[in-house]
Formats: sequence, structure tokens, C-alpha cells
Amino acid sequence: MAGRLAGKIALVTGGSSGIGQACSLAFAREEAKVIVADINVDGGEQTTRLIRDSGGDATFINADVSKATEVEALVNKAVEAYGRLDCAFNNAGIAGAIATPTHEYPEEDWDRVLSVNLKGVWLCMKHEIPQMLKQGRGVIVNMASVWGLVGASGFSAYIASKHAVVGVTRAAALEYATRGIRINAVNPGAIRTPMLDPAIAAIPGFEAMMTALHPVGRLGMPRRSGRGRGVAML
Ligand code: NAI
Repeated sequence: MAGRLAGKIALVTGGSSGIGQACSLAFAREEAKVIVADINVDGGEQTTRLIRDSGGDATFINADVSKATEVEALVNKAVEAYGRLDCAFNNAGIAGAIATPTHEYPEEDWDRVLSVNLKGVWLCMKHEIPQMLKQGRGVIVNMASVWGLVGASGFSAYIASKHAVVGVTRAAALEYATRGIRINAVNPGAIRTPMLDPAIAAIPGFEAMMTALHPVGRLGMPRRSGRGRGVAML
């Protein structure tokens, strides 16, 4: 039986690690051809190798989502290579300063977090949407976070950026709803990826505290257990 995404072209930013790597593999399991974009070249090559070793089709493109020229080139290269763009998972993100109160938050961390997490998502949509309009259809999922819905202490830039991702997703979803492009955001709770390592190392009891916030009594894992049909969010 063909995969649910057979013949589709999917772009995943932040596909070198964590959730983005797991979702790249999930897209490939459903037989999408996957463009993995990231600034982490080794991780990106690992993701594409894992996909190709399983018989899939994947290409890594080194791109920083906070840079307009690199995002434009990324989408152009993806379309040149595969002819279209059906699905985009705008997932790349960073945590920024850890456990730092708002009045002590370093300006350079603030700028970098907003630039990757928020501007990066917007830049991706800015360049993905024209291609999807040409096709008359497409699906975009932006990565927000449970911290795009509620507050927490010590991560103000991250929390601001993720609330803003929810906002820009709502705006864009309404703009393109009648033009064949479906745009959503996902807001996962804590997922045990390398992103959590600095906070776990720096804040005593962080992992236990985060675990206690999750009714299932554990942190999420980037890979789904069972049959791994992990692209249901799309
Ligand atoms: P991760 O650190 O494992 O993966 C993030 C990836 O984004 C890395 O491969 C990194 O190189 C890439 N990246 C960072 N800056 C980039 C840039 N400027 N351009 C291109 N790629 C860049 O982290 P994880 O956990 O997989 O995070 C993925 C997304 O999920 C992030 O947006 C994060 O905020 C979000 N998220 C994570 C949660 C968690 O608990 N791990 C919970 C909710 C949301």
C-alpha cells in the first residue's frame, strides 16, 4: 500500500535534530520526498542518510531560517530539485537564555530568539506561500509550543516568540484559507530533545518539574512508538 504522502514534496526546517529529524523520518515513511534544512550540516546529512538507507528520497540544504536570502534560496532550490512544494514544517527553533529573569535577559539572546523562532517562521511562509499559490494548494505547519499558550518564569524571549508564532499562524491561516493553503501551528509540551539539555544541566530539578506538569507522567519523545504514523499533525 502506498504511503499517505506518496509523491508529495515536504520541507522540514530544523530537520537535523530532535523533533525535526523525527518528523523528516515520518514524512519519508509516508513516502514523501523530504528536503531537510538546517544550519547543522552533520545532523542534516545524518537525517538524509537515514531516509535514503530506508529507501526514501531526501536532500539536505544548509540554510539559516533567520536570513532572508538563505530562506529564499532554500525554497528556490527545493522547487528546482523537486518541481513543487506540498508540505512545509517550519520547525527550526532555539531556546535562548536559560532561567534568566526578564530584566536580566541579554539583548543579543532576545534578538536571536525572536529572529530564529519568529522571523524564521515568517520568512519561511513568505517564500513557501507564493509557490503554494502557484500550485493552488499546500500545507504549512508552524512549530509553536505549549509556551506559546501559557507563561513560565525565566524564558521570556522564547515564550514571546512562541506566542507570536501562534499569532502569525492565525493571521496567515485566515489569509490563505480560501486559496487552497492550510496553515496550522502545533504546540507540544516538553519533548526530550537536545534543546532541553542546557536547561536540565543548569536548573536543578528542571526535568522532574517539567515531567510533573505532564498528565502522562513523562516527557514526550520525538519519535512516536507503535507504527510511527507520526505525520498526523499535518
Ligand atoms: P533541537 O535543538 O533538537 O532541534 C532544533 C533544530 O533547529 C536543530 O537541528 C538546530 O540546528 C536547528 N536550528 C537552530 N537554529 C536554526 C536556524 N537559524 N536555521 C535553521 N535551523 C536552525 O530542538 P527540538 O526540541 O527538536 O526543537 C524543534 C522545535 O520544537 C523548536 O522550534 C522548539 O522551540 C520546538 N519545541 C520544542 C519542545 C521541546 O520540549 N523540545 C517543545 C515545544 C516546541
